[in-house]
Amino acid sequence: MANLNAQSRVLSGMRPTGRLHLGHYHGVLKNWVRLQQEHECFFFVADWHALTTQYDDTRGIAQSGWDMVIDWLACGVNPNMARLFIQSKVPEHAELHLLLSMITPLGWLERVPTYKDQQEQLREKDLATYGFLGYPLLQSADILVYKATAVPVGEDQVAHVEITREVARRFNHFYGVEPDFIERAEEAIKKMGKKNARVYRDLRRRYQEQGEHEALDVARALLDNQQNITLADRERLHGYLDGTGRNVLPEPQALLTPHAKMPGLDGRKMSKSYNNFIGLREDAESVRKKVRTMQTDPARVRRTDPGNPEKCPVWDFHKLYSGEADRDWVWKGCTTAGIGCIDCKMCMLEGMEKELGPIRERGHEFENDMDTVRSIVNEGCEAARSEARETLDEVRDAMGLTYR
Ligand code: TRP
Ligand code: SF4
Repeated sequence: MANLNAQSRVLSGMRPTGRLHLGHYHGVLKNWVRLQQEHECFFFVADWHALTTQYDDTRGIAQSGWDMVIDWLACGVNPNMARLFIQSKVPEHAELHLLLSMITPLGWLERVPTYKDQQEQLREKDLATYGFLGYPLLQSADILVYKATAVPVGEDQVAHVEITREVARRFNHFYGVEPDFIERAEEAIKKMGKKNARVYRDLRRRYQEQGEHEALDVARALLDNQQNITLADRERLHGYLDGTGRNVLPEPQALLTPHAKMPGLDGRKMSKSYNNFIGLREDAESVRKKVRTMQTDPARVRRTDPGNPEKCPVWDFHKLYSGEADRDWVWKGCTTAGIGCIDCKMCMLEGMEKELGPIRERGHEFENDMDTVRSIVNEGCEAARSEARETLDEVRDAMGLTYR
């Protein structure tokens, strides 16, 4: 999986399919909040991706998109640190998708596991569409249009990052080598200054002649730290180093989201389709009701039966929301039948409310201040678009579509 460094550019998207729940919060959003502090981050509403399965009723998509952005903001995704935007507001995603479609073998798309899986899961819907087959390629365009190097995703999305890498490689293979590549690379080396140029040449020789992988790593770090060369030159020098030519589109890496154990109310994975979720901004009263009816250790039938927290989803919630003292109290009380499940749940609820209360409140504030939300997204779109435009200029250029 990915090695993050200071140069990493992180990108991820979510489909606007309805309100987010605690599974999204613990599984994805907390991770985003952490990543934004150390890396350049792009987070977007994948509304075109929602269309691939929801093409027959598109009315809820825009509202879900706004709700989702509010959920992100409420959780602490910070527009001063990350760019938040909407996919369809950056048409460059579509242009790159089209250009990449020219070089993408059908078999690659047909082989992506989600293609058949989803068709089987959503049988009632006709997913034998052009758009649905192209889902992973649109995702590739999302990633490559920003030259993202790290893509935080869940397990189910790793195959999509993998195909992105293959498509990027194929693109670079066809269009990456410029006729005067060597001359340009040599020019670029000089721009690094005498000392760095010498170090680079030495490392490159050690890698290419002696196969020293360590030298390759050092040289890559050297390039990433160069301040006075252009992005295009940096790419040339990376390509010159590993012998691949100029990598117009860098291969991204999947950043597997650390697995947060967030069971639903019934102990299965929290999911909208199981209807076992707690909404991220659900009101306190409704959360309380849901928690009261939550599944517990099935062996604990009567109050006097001791229980085993390891077999109880409430315990997993305690691990997320309760401090050590409360957890000790629960463990002892449960295993000795010293406390009842309702006591246990009320204790957990307190910790949970401490975390969710402020999120709910911030959500309300944003909901009542849509002007701010809209301007955050507008700015994010503009910033994203200017990055995307630059990539498309290079892509068109590499493909010979520059008309001067
Ligand atoms: N397919 C992703 C999902 O369902 C959403 C997505 C679209 C995405 N484009 C992306 C994720 C680009 C990461 C990068 O979760
Ligand atoms: Fe679960 Fe708590 Fe009841 Fe034990 S006391 S079974 S941990 S709810």
